[in-house]
Amino acid sequence: MGEKQYQLQPLPYDYKALAPVISEDLLRLHHDKHHAAYVNGANAILQKFEKARKEGTDLDLKAITKEYSFHFGGLFLHERFWQNMGPTGKSGGKPGGRIGDAIEKEFGSFERFKKEFSAVASSVEGSGWAALVFCGHIERPQLVQIEKHNVNVTPQQKVLLVLDVWEHAYYLDYKNDRGKFIENWWNVVNWDAVEKRLP
Ligand SMILES: [Fe+2]
Repeated sequence: MGEKQYQLQPLPYDYKALAPVISEDLLRLHHDKHHAAYVNGANAILQKFEKARKEGTDLDLKAITKEYSFHFGGLFLHERFWQNMGPTGKSGGKPGGRIGDAIEKEFGSFERFKKEFSAVASSVEGSGWAALVFCGHIERPQLVQIEKHNVNVTPQQKVLLVLDVWEHAYYLDYKNDRGKFIENWWNVVNWDAVEKRLP
């Protein structure tokens, strides 16, 4: 032991900061319970590996590597999600600068991007994410729909902006109205943070 473990990264703002788009209660539950569970899950897998290697026992490697991808995906995407949001009243709107230009160039307009990204989010079957990624091969932003935390992931494409549409992300505030959550969520997007991720 003594090796580095995964950590639950604290929120970059107060628990009340995203209200009323995301209430304090929902943010606490989402960060302190759901996000934390993926961090703990990933650490538990590291321990299983360490124990089995020490004792020389076999693991179900197909299952455990799948589980690792799920938990690591969950912890990483939640970190990005918290970072790409900012306090109500100081966030949202139409982005300018390099990110605004990159979006307009790829999608034609910000409105068109918003429509496509929202549709990616609303059409997730069950649990998943909408993501704006940057593909280094073509140096262009692209949309991705991630199922769960780890399915349809495109390796090495840099994650610029994500939206969590697991039920746990909105049910407490919006019940089953995912569409309303998505619509309101645009008001807490921190475009400065998104732009910083743009290569
Ligand atoms: Fe989540």
